[in-house]
Amino acid sequence: MSGQRNGSIKSSSGRIYRKMVTDTRPEVPAASQEKADPDFTIIGKHTPRIDGSKIVTGKAPYTQDIVLKDMLYGRILRSPHPKAEITSIDLTRARRHPGVKAAIKLGVEKARYTGEQIAAVAAVDEKTCSEALRLIRVDYRPLPYAVTEEKAKEKGSPQVHDGKPNVFKFNDQKRGDIQAGFSEADTVAEHTYRTPVEIHHPAETHSSIAKWNGDRLTVWDSTQGIHSVRDGLAQALQMPISKVKVIKHYMGGGFGSKLFLSGHTVAAALLAKETGRPVKILLSRKENSLCVGNRPSSLQTYKGGIKKNGTLTALSLVNYTCGGLDEGDRCAEPVWDLYKCPNLDVKEYAVYTNTGPQRPTRAPGHVQGTFAFEGFLDELAARIGMDPLELRKRNYTTKNQGGTGIPYSSKGLDRCYEIGAGEIGWHKRNHTPGEGTGIFRKGMGMATQIWWGAGVPGTLADVKIYPDGSVDVISGTQDIGCGTRTFMAMVVAETLGLNPKDITVKIGNTDYPWAILSGGSLTTPSVAPAVRHAANKAADRLKEMAAKELKIPAEDIILKDNSLLDRNDPGNAVDFKKTAAGFRRETVFHGERLGLPQGYAYNSFGAHFVEVEVDTGTGRIRVLKVVAVHESGRIMNKQTAESQILGGVTQGISTALFEQRILDEETGTLVNPNLRDYKIATAVDIPEIMPIFVDLVDPRINNLGTKGLGEPPRIPIAAAIGNAVYNAIGVHVREIPMTPDKILAALKRREGRK
Ligand code: MOS
Repeated sequence: MSGQRNGSIKSSSGRIYRKMVTDTRPEVPAASQEKADPDFTIIGKHTPRIDGSKIVTGKAPYTQDIVLKDMLYGRILRSPHPKAEITSIDLTRARRHPGVKAAIKLGVEKARYTGEQIAAVAAVDEKTCSEALRLIRVDYRPLPYAVTEEKAKEKGSPQVHDGKPNVFKFNDQKRGDIQAGFSEADTVAEHTYRTPVEIHHPAETHSSIAKWNGDRLTVWDSTQGIHSVRDGLAQALQMPISKVKVIKHYMGGGFGSKLFLSGHTVAAALLAKETGRPVKILLSRKENSLCVGNRPSSLQTYKGGIKKNGTLTALSLVNYTCGGLDEGDRCAEPVWDLYKCPNLDVKEYAVYTNTGPQRPTRAPGHVQGTFAFEGFLDELAARIGMDPLELRKRNYTTKNQGGTGIPYSSKGLDRCYEIGAGEIGWHKRNHTPGEGTGIFRKGMGMATQIWWGAGVPGTLADVKIYPDGSVDVISGTQDIGCGTRTFMAMVVAETLGLNPKDITVKIGNTDYPWAILSGGSLTTPSVAPAVRHAANKAADRLKEMAAKELKIPAEDIILKDNSLLDRNDPGNAVDFKKTAAGFRRETVFHGERLGLPQGYAYNSFGAHFVEVEVDTGTGRIRVLKVVAVHESGRIMNKQTAESQILGGVTQGISTALFEQRILDEETGTLVNPNLRDYKIATAVDIPEIMPIFVDLVDPRINNLGTKGLGEPPRIPIAAAIGNAVYNAIGVHVREIPMTPDKILAALKRREGRK
């Protein structure tokens, strides 16, 4: 166990994530296409969450709410140094402290970031745990470190990873001939953009409860992936997967940091083993800031060549991205995929620092890449005096993914542009950026989004029908707050002619059939088709059973209004319940999310149009209105889909205006590990947001034609705000967060130019 005891899970999480979101699983047979069903009465409509009242009345059990019999609490001792050798750990006094039931080392010999797990205690309550942590004596030999990218990049800077340079090239992509592309251009521009490290701040911090029963382990976890945590635990504890069970009922947000197993979960399991009692570990806001992952920073330099008519001839990107101990985020997807530029050159470098490893953060790489690249496009548009929307329309393609020649399975971006421009009143923007006068300047901007979100083949779901006519839908998926339970019930209800409220949804337990984790916009396009597949099988069987009774062929029967009826003579009907009684015992129908036909690019698209007002006196930006138009295939539930957009846009505004992790190189500490100093958007910062969907049923993607929507609304918003600020004040701000000091500095630059 020792090698993995510290639970500092080997990450390279960026790579794992990318593999997952682009996984088409060619070994799973491709779905035979169902006909697009125009007669849906539940799917696609506004449906309130079936568990909504339970959530808002505080009855829904979150991991933090769960209290087990004889349960102890655990807390973790973390390294106060960004880098240090641990020469000795003495647990004697902690163990002797009244109320303490266990104190253990976590097997770390060298701490590599402030906050790394060193030891853990279990006690009767959290206060006793905290007291015990202070009684643990650790001898550290502090080592030279680098916590900022600037320092890490310096010549002779302390090495973060032994035997590995601090700067490492992880992406090198080319197409066409970049030099030829630049010589064809009428104008060439080059600019650098910067995005900071962002910290995950879900409302509910991470928490885990571990309980052993002999050699079997059950863990309640605030997680986006019950199966990924289960598999991770089995590996970390070197035990069979079959002996680990992970449960998650409800959780207060997860944006990537809860996708995989975390160290504190392993610590809870070890403490529970040691004490023979259940142990709960709840991370504090500070731990949340230091230890559970973050969005890597980026420093992106784009150079682009463009013709007077708006044709892109060449684009290059050099990116330095910092994910602490990890590799950073690949930010090149937007520049590579969005437009049909024939000549590209991309180089991306990781910069290692002694800070906690990254975790995927809602639209990893795309948020950073889109802010910079879609901002750069506006600069190119300005150079040739072209409407930035027009520039995009000239360069995007409805057929092939960027210049790669792979056809899109479907693409509704043109509709997004059209609808968005109409709703915001694009024609009313400043035709000369910064042309307004007075203290308050208004401006409009827009930006484009591309993401994956095809779902993962192999995801399973069962529909179980009982002889009394009640129905379960069962899958080892989880609801991370987006409404998984509700769309599952909707799909079954739609298919069997029932009411969503009458379907019992069973999820959040690894004993149920396997489903992909909830990240990467994968849940709906993975789980909904599996449920539909199972429900269709159930419907077919029920029709056969009713055919005798109704004395018509099974194919003439439809399921509607709690009955099975003759489509040609609706009066000839039999009750759903009565038909189900024919099963005589509970009967299970298995469904699977089948494969994706090879040879297509599966992407979702969107465009955000934004109006802002800049106070040129104080440098404050106020977002006035956001029109967010998305093409994510068939929308399953308009209500939760709209919520998804409101949340994504809100987080994007927060990124654009406020969020940044700040480290102090002198002391090696994180300066803002709390929600007072790390500012996030609140209700007063949120403008009118108008979510709009382009309902385009993707015929190839799955039996419901649905794509994911988790990441998309998070992607273009910061770029659209940046472009709107340019339109308002006539100067580009190339760095987020766009805090007042940066706006005032930009205005000064503009004065200097006059
Ligand atoms: Mo999201 S980064 O896929 O949880």
